[in-house]
Amino acid sequence: MQLQDKIILVVGGATGIGKATAALCAARGARVIIADINETAGAETAAAITAPFIKVDVTSEANVQALYSQVNEQYGRLDVLIHAAGLLKGAFTSIEELTLDTWKLVMDINVKGSFLSVKHATPLLKKSKRGVVILLSSGAAQSGSSSYAYGASKGGVTSLGITLAGKLAPDNIRLNVLHPGNIRTPMKLSVIEADAQKRGESMDKLVADSHLGEPEGVAKVLAWLASDDADYLRGNVFTR
Ligand SMILES: NC(=O)c1ccc[n+]([C@@H]2O[C@H](COP(=O)([O-])OP(=O)(O)OC[C@H]3O[C@@H](n4cnc5c(N)ncnc54)[C@H](O)[C@@H]3O)[C@@H](O)[C@H]2O)c1
Repeated sequence: MQLQDKIILVVGGATGIGKATAALCAARGARVIIADINETAGAETAAAITAPFIKVDVTSEANVQALYSQVNEQYGRLDVLIHAAGLLKGAFTSIEELTLDTWKLVMDINVKGSFLSVKHATPLLKKSKRGVVILLSSGAAQSGSSSYAYGASKGGVTSLGITLAGKLAPDNIRLNVLHPGNIRTPMKLSVIEADAQKRGESMDKLVADSHLGEPEGVAKVLAWLASDDADYLRGNVFTR
């Protein structure tokens, strides 16, 4: 599998699945760039693989525009966008109690963030001649979630991806939507922690019962999707 010299931007690459994917892509020869809102973890993750870190809040169009301008200035093109930035909030909150603020925040980060990222990445991906976009949805888009806002947002990401895929194809940009299952990341662990508190059970027991997959496992799928070996793959991809 060749990633040698591919310019790969991992948005949401500070922690979790994005972090593991950035590390694996770098180990396989890609020129990785990490972007994230979490400056401390992002800079640390980037330093560990000698990659540049760019701070971005994906809910701000000005921020996202600035991110892609910087990538354009420094690299002149983008080969692969892995958009992993996401938020799960409102877990185990009843529909009567879910606030509009939580709904808007989750929708903004997950759906609007994916839209803005692809919007501003597209001119750079066109310059690659063989661009790839991978959006991170979730198994929750099909099977539901502990959070109404998160479940709905991931349905939005999946549909955005399906809609975009055919439109970007004439520019030789392949778009896949990845749907991971339950993976041991800060996001998932915080949901299990909230569940443990609510039920009065031990966190260790609930983690064990969750049979979590590891971010490195999902990273192997993402690194393959980023490669030319995946060029005949279309549409949605589901992982453990
Ligand atoms: N962990 C799971 O079980 C699981 C399952 C299915 C899908 N996913 C999806 O995988 C992706 C990665 O999640 P993860 O589990 O690695 O969690 P994570 O919390 O470790 O990673 C999410 C990253 O997104 C960043 N981020 C959040 N808001 C941002 C913003 N406004 N701008 C820029 N960056 C922002 C965070 O700082 C973090 O680095 C998410 O889209 C998530 O929904 C995770």
